Amino acid sequence: MTSSATPLVSVQELIREGAERFKKANLWFGHGSDNAHDEAAELVFFGAGLRHEDADRAYAQQLDARVLQAIRSLFDRRISERIPAAYLTHRMWFAGHEFYVDERVLVPRSPIAELIESRFEPWIDSSRIRRVLDIGTGSGCIAIAAALSLPQATVDAADISEDALAVTTLNIERHKVQSRVRTVRSDVFQGLAHERYDVIVSNPPYVGDEELNALPEEYGREPRLGLHGGHDGLNIVHTILREAHAHLHEHGVLIVEVGNSEEVLIKAYPHVPFTWLEFERGGGGVFVLTAEQLEGMTRA
Ligand SMILES: C[S@@+](CC[C@H](N)C(=O)[O-])C[C@H]1O[C@@H](n2cnc3c(N)ncnc32)[C@H](O)[C@@H]1O
Repeated sequence: MTSSATPLVSVQELIREGAERFKKANLWFGHGSDNAHDEAAELVFFGAGLRHEDADRAYAQQLDARVLQAIRSLFDRRISERIPAAYLTHRMWFAGHEFYVDERVLVPRSPIAELIESRFEPWIDSSRIRRVLDIGTGSGCIAIAAALSLPQATVDAADISEDALAVTTLNIERHKVQSRVRTVRSDVFQGLAHERYDVIVSNPPYVGDEELNALPEEYGREPRLGLHGGHDGLNIVHTILREAHAHLHEHGVLIVEVGNSEEVLIKAYPHVPFTWLEFERGGGGVFVLTAEQLEGMTRA
């Protein structure tokens, strides 16, 4: 049979085919999409070189045999290797911006994106934000999106991993923010002695031993350093809480994501007045503390 005899398949039909295969294979969706349809759609749009903005027109488009085959092999890899789609396409959107990703960094998905879009208001008067620190920057999504939403600010994008910082650098160049975002190799605050910021933001590794062992296979594709936060998940968070005050201006704020470790954190610090944030697009486990609230803080 020649390729001209291959039955034509539309974008919509192929998305449906992928979604059905994904559901049957019991995949996990936690890396930017939360359902089989969206995950299949991203692979089809990527493979066909289509833009999600053009979805209405694109759905009826017929795909030629070569493209069809390429997309079906992406489906195959998503299923057999349990690779999150973002590592197959090397892209993910965060706070409205596209970032390059690969297995050296976590797939961006933090609800902190919403805070960045509102320029960290109402937690701080955004006109006072001159310096931002992102601890555990990974792809640089938080640091770079913050720089793009706060044109007057400079941002330090810190990570302990050289590999992660290589990806951060690619994204800094891609978004042309080299003059305002710098990478810093640092174990939490260690490489940042004497630096002070208006906003310190972090999505650190916060998964504890027990939760880590129970995670779906897809998370095994992500760098362990980006997920595992020690026995109770809070190793890095304890350090941040202990040292943040020394790195914040008086009017500054600390914003940290701890995900499912929220309860453990509250138990460990019963006297700390964490403000837990709510998000329109879902997600949680993110707290805010002001510099004033952090002053003199000691672990319970
Ligand atoms: C959960 S990922 C977050 C990545 C990115 N900020 C995001 O939101 O997608 C945590 C990051 O923290 C980094 N990290 C782990 N331990 C660290 C440490 N002691 N100091 C600084 N960064 C650390 C990891 O390399 C990883 O890139």
